[in-house]
Amino acid sequence: MRALREAIRSGRLAPDTRLPPYRTLANDLAIARNTVAGAYAELVEEGWLTARQGSGTRVARRATPLDPGQSRGPARPTRHRVTHDLMPTSPDAAAFPRADWAASARRALAAAPNDAFGVGDSRGRRELRHALTEYLARARGVRTDPDRIIICAGYAHALRLLCQVLQGPMAVESYGLAFHRSLIAGAGLDTVPLTVDAHGARTDELTATGADSVLLTPAHQFPTGGPLHPERRTAVIDWARATGGLLLEDDYDGEFRYDREPVGAVQGLDPDRVAYLGSTSKSLSPALRLGWMVLPGHLADRVAEAKGEREMWTGVVDQLTLADFINCGAYDRHLRRMRKIYRRRRDHLTATLAERAPHIAVTGIAAGLHAVLELPEGTEQAALRAARRQGLALEGLHPFRHPHSTLPPRDGLVIGYGTPPEHAFTAALDALCLALPDPPQDEHPEPTAPRRRPRRS
Ligand SMILES: Cc1ncc(COP(=O)(O)O)c(C=O)c1O
Repeated sequence: MRALREAIRSGRLAPDTRLPPYRTLANDLAIARNTVAGAYAELVEEGWLTARQGSGTRVARRATPLDPGQSRGPARPTRHRVTHDLMPTSPDAAAFPRADWAASARRALAAAPNDAFGVGDSRGRRELRHALTEYLARARGVRTDPDRIIICAGYAHALRLLCQVLQGPMAVESYGLAFHRSLIAGAGLDTVPLTVDAHGARTDELTATGADSVLLTPAHQFPTGGPLHPERRTAVIDWARATGGLLLEDDYDGEFRYDREPVGAVQGLDPDRVAYLGSTSKSLSPALRLGWMVLPGHLADRVAEAKGEREMWTGVVDQLTLADFINCGAYDRHLRRMRKIYRRRRDHLTATLAERAPHIAVTGIAAGLHAVLELPEGTEQAALRAARRQGLALEGLHPFRHPHSTLPPRDGLVIGYGTPPEHAFTAALDALCLALPDPPQDEHPEPTAPRRRPRRS
């Protein structure tokens, strides 16, 4: 309630703004509906809110914000306040399954043997590696056993560790996270871009790169969004077999597929040629810092050695909690629930754009938590500026492009539709539509009616 009062007092919630219904806010904050109802009622009594039948609860018109002179700290004139977060970095943080996670933590703590609280094995807790072996086989078609799994602090940690034991250049997709490319470069490996098109990375370019390994996002190319074409999935395995190369498979959002059952991991085609990397950052939360590697036998010991003799990165309570969370079915349940929510948002996004910006194509929508809005050439920067003015946080395609890519840059916006909480999504889409470029003017418009020549008399 204090946060709500402060938001009104500071002007962050403008007069007449309609507040979300009790149930929506209670779900987002994982608190009881009565708590929200009580807070609203108190703020109505204090005069901050008004509640009227039929028009919901709104910020009172006379609840004037503090004037800028009273606000804390100097104003920052050029920075736009972020009201709508459409960055593709996070799932809906408000949907974190707090109650189920807490129940798993309680059970895991009660069941843990005493040695769990001693010095840990650097591969991670056996309970979690067992749970993942079963889960990944069932959900992602991954073939492994617990000895070939290494738990780590998210995907970025896995990539860092793998790069410590790999040599030679690594082929990467021509669009990807610059942060991941810099991790690879930081380990002393060069990255060589592979063209990305609507079917994912062009695996036919692999041989010419001379790379020893290749990093791909086969389930949902990040950020352009296409799943890797079936022929390319087999082509990359053929390349690895022929050259002794290694595929690093980044399966960051593989559980979220909307047009069909999720396609299994490429790892299932040949577990000796693929290092499969997964994480809870999209499925649960990037703040957990929990991930896993499923490694070919010849790499497992070397990566475990690189990680160190004892577990230094991921806490035992979180590992045991995740094991319980998977084993008791709560992980599947959460994913089923979130798949429905994200699919609904994706449909909402595409329907809104079809109606209000039909000149903008939306791509990469078959899977994941983000989509790409294709923009006319040369309009990305202007669209980003317009987005900032609308209070939107989002990214264009340009920062994801590999600096050595020879293809002309694509203009587009990457829309993380998973990020906003439920109650804020429609407002985020409204703001997005206001930021998009107008349809191009037709240079040669069809004449609407033939002009009559004046008759000569
Ligand atoms: C392409 C890609 N790979 C992997 C991840 C997961 O990274 P991490 O587990 O380090 O949070 C993300 C973000 O969630 C991502 O966008």
